[in-house]
Amino acid sequence: MAVIISQDEKVFHLQTDEVSYVFQVMENGELEQIYFGKRVHSKEAYRNLTTKERREAMVAWRTDRDYFQPDNIKQEYSSFGKGDFREPAYQVEQENGSRITELKYQSYRLAKGKKRLSELPSAFAENDDVETLEITLLDKLIGLQVVLKYSVFPHQNVIVRSTEFSNQGDEKLNILRALSSQIDLPDSNYDFISFAGSWARERHEVIRRIKSGIQSISSLRTASSHQQNPFILLARPETTEDDGDVFAFNLIYSGNFLDQVEVSQYDTSRVLVGINPEEFSWHLDPSTSFQTPEAVLSFSDHGKNKISQQLADFYQNHLINQRFAKQQRPVLVNNWEATYFDFDEKKLLAIAEKAAELGIELFVLDDGWFGHRDDDTTSLGDWFVDKNKLPDGLSHLSEKVHDLGLKFGLWFEPEMVSFDSDLYRNHPDWMISAPKRIPTPGRNQFVLDFSRDDVVEYIFALMSDRIKESKLDYIKWDMNRYITDAFSNQLPDSDQKELAHRYILGVYKLYQRLIDAFPNVLFESCASGGGRFDLGLMYYAPQAWTSDDTDALERIYIQFGTSYGYPLSTMGAHVSAVPNYQTGRLTSFKTRGDVAFFGDLGYELDITQLSDKEQLQMKDQITFYKKNRELFQFGKFYRIESPFSGDGNVAIWEVVSKDQKQAIAARYQILNKPNPAYLRIYFKGLNPNLKYRINDSEEIFYGDELMNAGYFVHQILNINNPISGSADFSSRLFVAQAVE
Ligand code: DGJ
Repeated sequence: MAVIISQDEKVFHLQTDEVSYVFQVMENGELEQIYFGKRVHSKEAYRNLTTKERREAMVAWRTDRDYFQPDNIKQEYSSFGKGDFREPAYQVEQENGSRITELKYQSYRLAKGKKRLSELPSAFAENDDVETLEITLLDKLIGLQVVLKYSVFPHQNVIVRSTEFSNQGDEKLNILRALSSQIDLPDSNYDFISFAGSWARERHEVIRRIKSGIQSISSLRTASSHQQNPFILLARPETTEDDGDVFAFNLIYSGNFLDQVEVSQYDTSRVLVGINPEEFSWHLDPSTSFQTPEAVLSFSDHGKNKISQQLADFYQNHLINQRFAKQQRPVLVNNWEATYFDFDEKKLLAIAEKAAELGIELFVLDDGWFGHRDDDTTSLGDWFVDKNKLPDGLSHLSEKVHDLGLKFGLWFEPEMVSFDSDLYRNHPDWMISAPKRIPTPGRNQFVLDFSRDDVVEYIFALMSDRIKESKLDYIKWDMNRYITDAFSNQLPDSDQKELAHRYILGVYKLYQRLIDAFPNVLFESCASGGGRFDLGLMYYAPQAWTSDDTDALERIYIQFGTSYGYPLSTMGAHVSAVPNYQTGRLTSFKTRGDVAFFGDLGYELDITQLSDKEQLQMKDQITFYKKNRELFQFGKFYRIESPFSGDGNVAIWEVVSKDQKQAIAARYQILNKPNPAYLRIYFKGLNPNLKYRINDSEEIFYGDELMNAGYFVHQILNINNPISGSADFSSRLFVAQAVE
């Protein structure tokens, strides 16, 4: 049973295989949070955990039996202005200007499974093991109903939380903040771990010890952003990859977000996760409701590898589009870094032919196929083929590509418009821009107002035509700038602060319409690389372009950081040309391949220009990848050595098959050292009792030996063939195969 309810005491115990989450109704009808962490027995009451100690100089409310000081109570969903002075989970303004509300418990509802939300991406489950609990709270004075929703996924140790506000009264209400989830932890001995960066340098691990006061990460870029990812961990300082307590929080949302921890005067830690209250408000007219995005909560006392693994399992089974979630993803070639805007059918077909010869499965035509787009100043919105480049049309190219036995994919940037486009000339009011101000361009382009149904409809119709005419198998959906000048010509003046959220709802609407109409099209999301690498988009697009940085070395950091919160199957990873376009660095074909294997492999370079040797290497890489694809995309991922720690010179990671009969570990070394220390690779996750061969080793090793004693690695540099030894920017793969 996932949800245990003590009827007398009104204690709600959400229990997974390894985690407990407990809250109760207090005497005044408000909710008190009791516990979140490693599983504990279920009881009628937890008085020890709710004991109140009276402190001086505090606001308090009394009952006959007890004395309550809101500022030191662990609250389930805190309100504003009644004595809890920490930042609240929600705030609702009334017609008279008051922001004071009091939510009291009314009832609960328990159901099997987890239904999808209607307008937002969300977790789902038909499975009987999953249970959903809804707690209804009411502010009687104004008729504000708040439903707290919890779905318990017992085997992945995940609880999904969200909140729905409904106005059942007569007055107009205005929601000023509406976080999805609140957790009040009883102490503050935690590291706050986030994943930060910038364009081409996404999701680098950042660790800070939490202290008294507020610490947060957020986005106001109308996208989850390159700069901060909505995924955070709170870990005990001694927690390692394999041991120790760690909480994970994420948000199934792609817009402005806030992840905040407030350490109070009594060293409790309040974690708030949800839509960023800045630049947000929502008019809640009588008889309307507002649903927040869902927050994903998880805990493990077995360290960070375990929490990443249980989250990966959860996303695969309960979030990502099931049509593709467990399906092996095609090896692709993308023409972007090969040609940029400069191509014609002949050039593209030469790439496609070579691709087919070398074992590629999907050909992706990137930016520049439409309007008259020879550079990035024009044509966004005009999703009609450029007959100068492709005189016989898209369908002709697509037919030829299909004839080669390849799938055909196409790039779109559906949310954008260029000044120089028929779309802008015909519908200038469809662009987001503030009245009488000159809008700020980003990459020479502007953003369409996706809060408008007519805009979404128009783009849907255009994309549908292209999908049908070219029998598309795949779409890369790009988004290359954040919103500025946030103003919608269609929204009333008083609703302008709803734009950011309405915009992202429009994006979701278009995704859903396309998926419903074309269920077999695989979507890859992209936002100048990893600017919207979030769970919201993963619901629709099972994979995402991890970063515009294709340099193998930089990718080690990016993919390592990303792996904390997201499964390998979601990470697009390509081999590109050297010197690398983003860093100018030279790395070997082998290292580039060894990094890109750990994700959805692709090639993004002019493969018609490869030497014979490189072509052979590429063919071998693809053969090797296909042989081990299940493992690379869906294996259990272990981080062994972090490039973010120590001198950052080495990274080691590993994937292990479900049956533990196969594993591949990779060791990457940034700079070579002379006469280095002896080296052992300590495998993880193997079956201790199985025997394995490593690469072509003659010796056979028990799993326990490989995990506990390690595998000795020879490091002597072969100067005649440095890449096989241990020169700079080198990589080595260790394939463990169980033997009888
Ligand atoms: C940014 C993407 O991340 C690139 O891969 C490429 O698609 C360009 N946009 C095209 O403009």
